[in-house]
Amino acid sequence: MNILIVGSGGRESAFAWKMAQSPQITQLYIAPGNAGTSRYGQNIPIKVTDFEGIATFVLEQAIDMVVVGPEEPLVKGIHDYFLNRADLRHIPVIGPQQQGAQLEGSKDFSKRFMARHGIPTAASQSFTRATLPEGLAYLKTQKLPIVLKADGLAAGKGVLICTSLEEAQTELKAMLADAKFGEASSTVVIEEHLSGIELSVFVLTDGDTYKVLPAAKDYKRIGEGDTGLNTGGMGSVSPVPFADNEFLDKVEERIIIPTVEGLKKDNIPYKGFIFIGLMNMEGNPYVIEYNVRMGDPETESVLPRLESDLVDLLQGVAQGNLVDRSFTLSPKTAATVVLVAGGYPGPYESGKVISNIESVKDSLVFHAGTAAEDGVVKTAGGRVIAVTALEDTLFDALQQATADAGRIYFEGKNFRRDIGFDLL
Ligand code: AMP
Ligand code: GLY
Repeated sequence: MNILIVGSGGRESAFAWKMAQSPQITQLYIAPGNAGTSRYGQNIPIKVTDFEGIATFVLEQAIDMVVVGPEEPLVKGIHDYFLNRADLRHIPVIGPQQQGAQLEGSKDFSKRFMARHGIPTAASQSFTRATLPEGLAYLKTQKLPIVLKADGLAAGKGVLICTSLEEAQTELKAMLADAKFGEASSTVVIEEHLSGIELSVFVLTDGDTYKVLPAAKDYKRIGEGDTGLNTGGMGSVSPVPFADNEFLDKVEERIIIPTVEGLKKDNIPYKGFIFIGLMNMEGNPYVIEYNVRMGDPETESVLPRLESDLVDLLQGVAQGNLVDRSFTLSPKTAATVVLVAGGYPGPYESGKVISNIESVKDSLVFHAGTAAEDGVVKTAGGRVIAVTALEDTLFDALQQATADAGRIYFEGKNFRRDIGFDLL
């Protein structure tokens, strides 16, 4: 098979690494990829939202399957684009159509979906510019802290946890009246604050049946001890020690089954990954958010634990016979530590030479924001490299990944030395 992976981050590096090991692969392409993905396949300089460019390439190279990594092309309708063109319709796309992608593309849509299907989540109400006065009044009736969420995609910045009424009112006005997050905040979901421990559960579905993939925990804050600004994710571990079988059974019964069945009841076709961000509140799961893709860096911890062929599972999704496929997992623990550019998640510089990657012998190195210039690997993004160790124990995996993260060098490099140690 010829497969095209769409995306360029650490997640897509992990996909490419895993798929390159499949006996079913003839040619693997990554659009646009990064300096690391070229080790597993061929990078193609096409942007993830250039649907026409992707289509032309897919037809020219006789691609048999397109696997979409990030949310943006899904929310913008890449899958629908393929289905709407007679010459592309037969080529399976892994990732939902626009309607299903609304689970991530619109928080208001996802809250309504959960309410309709009885899926446990924080109580909420949505407001628009026209109902701003009602929104301000509603805030007065709510407990603190209170969570404000821009309805649309806001590059991970659209969620504000407000600790005072004044702050919440100011922010609600900024979002609705002053378009703080542009079009994304033309609707705002005001949501009850949930406290507990977060984790992510990943599901693969062909729209009929599903497989539950390994759970992971992600570390979102820039600073050690979970301090400072939110990032795309500074590290992850899988499995998650506190997500025992009893808890995961509750997740399946209360959340995964109603989600997959809810999509069917609502006539929403869905072929792809569902990433369920959860809060564990005293042993009970509540949905914080859905994403319509795998997580980054969670993928870099989840895929190394998959012993069997990922392409086989994806073919099950494409052909609608996922129920007949199976997979095996390593009992080992994966820990991922992300190296980021100095200044990230604020402004940062790119183009710094990266050295010593080859000194990492006992961990997997997944490139994220990197680019090769005349054979020299340089930084080209905020999150630069994800280092994953797979070991018998959580402690060993954490130690190995953290030590190997220290071996790679580039000017301004930053990483957290405490990823996962809270779970020991
Ligand atoms: P989201 O963009 O929905 O993933 O939200 C970003 C982060 O905000 C989540 O990972 C949580 O840490 C936090 N968050 C979102 N909603 C809530 C909530 N209702 N209660 C507590 N924390 C939340
Ligand atoms: N690591 C969180 C995300 O991928 O959205």
